[in-house]
Amino acid sequence: MAKKWLVVITIMIAVQANAQQDSKMNQFISSLMQKMTLEEKVGQLNLPSIGFDVTGPILSEGVEDKIKKGLVGGVFNTYTPAAVRKLQDIAVKESRLKIPLLFGFDVIHGHRTIFPISLGLSASWDPALIERTARVAADEASADGLNWTFSPMVDIARDPRWGRVSEGSGEDPYLGSRIAKAMVQGYQGNDLSKDNTIMACVKHFALYGASEAGRDYNTVDMSRVRMYNEYLPPYKAAVNAGAGSVMTSFNEIDGVPASANKWLLTDLLRKQWGFNGFVVTDYTAITEMIAHGMGDEKKVGELALNAGVDMDMVGEIFLNHGVELVRSGRVPMAQVDAACRRILEAKYKLGLFADPYRYINEERGKERIMTADKLALSKEAAIKSMVLLKNANQALPLSAGKKIAFIGPLVKDQRNLIGSWSGAGEWKKATSLWSALEQKFGANKFLYAKGCNLVDDEALRKSLNEHDGQIATDATPEQLLNEAVQTAQQADVVVAVLGETAGMSGEAASRSMIGLLNNQSDLLHALKKTGKPIILVLMNGRPLTLEWEDKNMDAILEAWFSGTQAGPAMADLLFGDANPSGKLSMTFPRNVGQVPIYYNAKNTGRPFTEGQKYTTQYLDVPNSPLYPFGYGLSYTTFSYGDLKLNKTSISGNEKLQVSLTVTNTGNYDGTETVQLYIRDLVGTITRPVKELKGFQKVSLKKGESREVNFTLGVDDLKFYNGNLQWAAEPGEFKVFVGGNSQEVKEAGFRLVR
Ligand code: NOJ
Repeated sequence: MAKKWLVVITIMIAVQANAQQDSKMNQFISSLMQKMTLEEKVGQLNLPSIGFDVTGPILSEGVEDKIKKGLVGGVFNTYTPAAVRKLQDIAVKESRLKIPLLFGFDVIHGHRTIFPISLGLSASWDPALIERTARVAADEASADGLNWTFSPMVDIARDPRWGRVSEGSGEDPYLGSRIAKAMVQGYQGNDLSKDNTIMACVKHFALYGASEAGRDYNTVDMSRVRMYNEYLPPYKAAVNAGAGSVMTSFNEIDGVPASANKWLLTDLLRKQWGFNGFVVTDYTAITEMIAHGMGDEKKVGELALNAGVDMDMVGEIFLNHGVELVRSGRVPMAQVDAACRRILEAKYKLGLFADPYRYINEERGKERIMTADKLALSKEAAIKSMVLLKNANQALPLSAGKKIAFIGPLVKDQRNLIGSWSGAGEWKKATSLWSALEQKFGANKFLYAKGCNLVDDEALRKSLNEHDGQIATDATPEQLLNEAVQTAQQADVVVAVLGETAGMSGEAASRSMIGLLNNQSDLLHALKKTGKPIILVLMNGRPLTLEWEDKNMDAILEAWFSGTQAGPAMADLLFGDANPSGKLSMTFPRNVGQVPIYYNAKNTGRPFTEGQKYTTQYLDVPNSPLYPFGYGLSYTTFSYGDLKLNKTSISGNEKLQVSLTVTNTGNYDGTETVQLYIRDLVGTITRPVKELKGFQKVSLKKGESREVNFTLGVDDLKFYNGNLQWAAEPGEFKVFVGGNSQEVKEAGFRLVR
């Protein structure tokens, strides 16, 4: 009892302290805003880009002069203490009110030490690990002068044609929400004003992952019920975790682009979810509303401000028209005041008013960037992200005693290992698979052939190289192929290392066909003809179609673009010094015609029934995917005992205990991700055939068994009904537990009033 009171008193003290801090902040900002002209207030809403790369057509100009005039709230793409100091100096020494700048950057999967691409990281199903990677990213970014990252990207994605699936956590709202929260916590810690925490920005709000046909920047149209139940949860989880900012998406929602969508930015985000940070647009998203057909510059500026946008990324529509929009009465002064206040609040919370140079510390940069512990985490994350898709007859792990030929353009590759959106990452610091093998076993231990150029298609290569692809063509395809076949013939086993280039996934990297490129596929066919066992190691940023590979390869390891330590991680996994444990967070289709494909689909009125024509199916491909959500093998095997429920029904606050025994039945120690799904059998709206509601990672020694327990309460059974009320409906439920979304044990229970 005394303990309970202690908790209550501690919470009350914390609430009071927060309230005091808030009132101090409010007073400070109010008095600052009293001194600000309308021009200066609008200036705070301006976010130009300087340095690095651009992802859109407009480059910011005359930025230093604008900073001097108080017409810039923050800049992005500028980093390193020296570069940041130069601009911060101008802001706090040369502008009238000396308001410090925000410094933002796309720190997506690591800053200098690069971790696996986000899709890969999500395959670890390990939010605590992902939080640690975000913490390290924040530590490095803040040591590099930054205080704001445009991450986490939490767009639910069901269409692997969309290149940006690589930047998110896959298709599932529950897993996506857990990861969204972990990343916000990792970046922001529990005190934004610390010099090693940075502000998160949840993006792309909202529904960007549902771009039609998987084509980037394309239209989105979706029912509210689908939005609320399937697409919005991760954004909400990030907001609930305290994310300081939100970025609008490029797409439209209900026919209104996100940056003009008042329902989205004000009614949903602020009023329903209680978000109190600031909203920044994506790159020139306000300007792009002209092309969307929403009006001229002034009109789109008016729409964005009135919808609840606070900051304009690069477009300078607010800067050029904001003052006049207020003076002419098209935008209430209160709207600009509110936006300006929110940006100043963010600066205050980051501690920038107390010390504008808080994040600028050359010494810390030297001490904290790419240190041994950070590289070790990068390797750990890479190992835990890779997914073993096939392993016939225990083809893996390899024995170093065998004669092994490593073949493929990615064996020695460094350039692509760090994947897309690794702006400050230096690919030359990444360790290739080949170097890792040399470090592990010494030089000249294995055979090698390049086999093919990474990309032979000239148009594709040209376009990739325009954006820093550096894809080389060494020799003619015939020479490379012949050499590879000869090399394979000398070996006992072939490891083919193939996939995409980093630039083939990420922004503006949609593909209509998602198999291996023809030249790579030709290489695999030629290798297959040698009759040697083939292990396929894949580096790529999206689910690929791998039907032929699945039939013809002995083993397939999905390695993604796994970052700075990708090579050592692959080497450890291939030779059994580590055991694969990754599980897919996104379904791998058999072919593109199945897309969009996802496990938590609806049953339909005519569920597929073998032999019955008029049921939902294709004439030419099964409904099932090649590799389902949650799937991934280990060098060992796990068996699942029957499900035990402690009750057959629950009501009110009662909890249902779900337990079962998992046994490591193979020859290696290993880690299994035990997944729990439910199905609500009858509802006032149709419910998915399965929904993930929990998972646990269990490490078991060979031969070891463990009881795994899950607790389900009524909250886990809730969903948004047709009136968008969050409620559970009494009736029959199924619960499933297994090692992926398809192979599960099941039981039933009831929810009663
Ligand atoms: C455009 C991208 O959509 C977004 O994800 C990114 O944060 C911004 N550019 C800034 O680079």
